[in-house]
Amino acid sequence: MTEKPLMRVLRGEPVWPPPVWLMRQAGRYLPEYMALREASGGFLARCLTPDMATEITLQPVRRYATDAAILFSDILVLPWALGQDLRFAEGEGPVMTPIRDAAGLSRLDLSRAPAETAPVMETVRRVRAALPDTCTLLGFAGSPFTVACYMVEGSGSRDFAATRIVAYADPAFFGRLIDILVEATVTYLAAQIEAGADAVMLFDTWAGVLPPDQFFAHVVRPTARIVATLKGRFPGIKIIGFPRLAGTFAADYVAATGVDCIGLDTSVDAARVAATLPVHIAVQGNLDPMALIAGGEPLAQETIRIRDALRGRPHIFNLGHGILPQTPPAHVAELLTTLRQVS
Ligand code: CP3
Repeated sequence: MTEKPLMRVLRGEPVWPPPVWLMRQAGRYLPEYMALREASGGFLARCLTPDMATEITLQPVRRYATDAAILFSDILVLPWALGQDLRFAEGEGPVMTPIRDAAGLSRLDLSRAPAETAPVMETVRRVRAALPDTCTLLGFAGSPFTVACYMVEGSGSRDFAATRIVAYADPAFFGRLIDILVEATVTYLAAQIEAGADAVMLFDTWAGVLPPDQFFAHVVRPTARIVATLKGRFPGIKIIGFPRLAGTFAADYVAATGVDCIGLDTSVDAARVAATLPVHIAVQGNLDPMALIAGGEPLAQETIRIRDALRGRPHIFNLGHGILPQTPPAHVAELLTTLRQVS
């Protein structure tokens, strides 16, 4: 059997045209997701019910024949599994009771997470069994820093001020929280790999809010520990890191963490960043989600520009951040047609 195109790229091989999937490819822009959402008991229930999570994971693969399926879940399922409360309020996103001190940490229990996340592993097994054999199955987790942002803040935020302040003011607390998350993330991703994930991705949405020393302490070092431990346990496992808005640190991040692929956000010139990386390191990205909403000629031009600029490099075509709910599903089909039309 020939290897899956996306896995070839993760092993450092350029593939033409590049394999493609889109962050948040399952979700509210798809009518079939919205139909299922009506009937289900809330977002967390959708993540933790294998029937629904499997169906939602497969929806975009069926519709578009993307080169990867990404497990349908959320980065906040892990803190929930550790014992922090979590609800998704309509129109305001995640809401949790903030954890800002040692008393808050004492409410977290690493030992309960494997049982709480067992339904996620069942979803991975079911998706694995249903996927076409050219399609890569991606597992994922949030990176410790980004997950800590939500745990400390207790919600989304424009600037995650409470988190960034406590990281300076109480480094013992913040370091302990990051350590707990490193350990929990390794266990969680290892279980996904054992259940059938081909590769895993670490989402670090808020990595770019930190100054250099804090970036290395809270983003790079914890990520390096997760990568080293997983690669020790699963030789050959491929790992994608997505340190969003960490532009000037891309090469340092890759060198110091040991990831096989770096996700790039829309703020950088992907080819220019790629030129600073070892040739076997894959890049993933970085179409602007707004161009996908706009569609038409601007979408085609941007798709071709990014694809062609990275020709000859191991590249996984993707967005620079998740698909937004107002995206017309037909534009995703247009994007894939343009991307795959090569002479
Ligand atoms: O990419 C995928 O299709 C896989 C599933 C996935 C979701 N969230 C589903 C989701 C993944 C990989 C995530 C990651 C995630 N979740 C991140 C990192 C990437 C990023 O987008 O920055 C973050 C920061 C979260 C936390 C989160 N989850 C927020 C802030 C919100 C509310 C905002 C929003 O978009 O509604 C969510 C909810 C969420 N996660 C939805 C989906 C499909 C919407 C749920 C719904 O209302 O149906």
